[in-house]
Amino acid sequence: MAYECILTRVEAERVGVIQLNRPKALNALNDQLMDELGAALKAFDADEAIGCIVLTGSEKAFAAGADITMMAKYSFADAYKGDYITRNWETIRSIRKPVIAAVSGYALGGGCELAMMCDFIIAADNARFGQPEIKLGVIPGAGGTQRLPRAVGKSKAMDMALTARMMDAQEAERAGLVSRIVALDKLMEETLAAAITISGFSQIAVMAAKESVNRAFEGTLSDGVMFERRLFHSLFATQDQKEGMDAFVNKRQAKFTHQ
Ligand code: HXC
Repeated sequence: MAYECILTRVEAERVGVIQLNRPKALNALNDQLMDELGAALKAFDADEAIGCIVLTGSEKAFAAGADITMMAKYSFADAYKGDYITRNWETIRSIRKPVIAAVSGYALGGGCELAMMCDFIIAADNARFGQPEIKLGVIPGAGGTQRLPRAVGKSKAMDMALTARMMDAQEAERAGLVSRIVALDKLMEETLAAAITISGFSQIAVMAAKESVNRAFEGTLSDGVMFERRLFHSLFATQDQKEGMDAFVNKRQAKFTHQ
């Protein structure tokens, strides 16, 4: 599939990179971009040669939100029937390989929500996060009111959703929204290093770890702990567990075959 709103590439060491690419509109997320993003994510997820996916934007904007020009003309009937604005947003949740958001510049509205749908966020020091939908007479529509409180707590999430103020990278790190901050000119280098580390591990263990951490946000603690225990025991059926533990015992580097 030829893409117009995103760029994709494969980096050495089993990493698929997706770059949002509507620079003139600060990577505003229109339906075409979201369709392309969904297709690219699914393609990397299905590709045996890929172990981890990185989603990024430009220096100035990861994404400045859903495309307001596009949304402005929709009626309720258009939006509801066509699943406009919101279609394909949940695709990212169905991706089983890790997806890291490498965020520089603005991550606003749907851009912040998209980053939060990724498994973790590495932020450049110029990153700014916000849910400014209230200024447009609407509210977040891709999980912002649900994922933001889980990430930063109710008070800060309310503050952001109700006042539309932005958080800088330092505040986002203090609040737990991002896993780490790096210098802008090191963003891709550091994110790729993390992605390469992940894709070098057992693919099965990596997918199980992702599935199990995500389980922490659904259901009860005891269900989550039981889910983790079942997955943990099941990993003893893999060749990668034999390889990983044998390599440790024999003081050598493990070579995972993802079996
Ligand atoms: C469409 C956008 C856009 C957006 C920026 N642009 N954000 N176009 N949708 N969300 C366009 C501008 O119109 C402008 O186009 C160009 O990008 C550069 O933007 P400027 O405003 O000139 O840049 P700057 O002064 O640096 O300000 C940057 C900014 C501001 C603070 C990020 O652009 C801004 O506030 N954008 C809107 C942010 C927002 O409200 N996001 C939430 C959207 S609602 P021209 O053609 O004039 O050069 C949402 C709902 C999600 O996301 C629901 C998901 C299901």
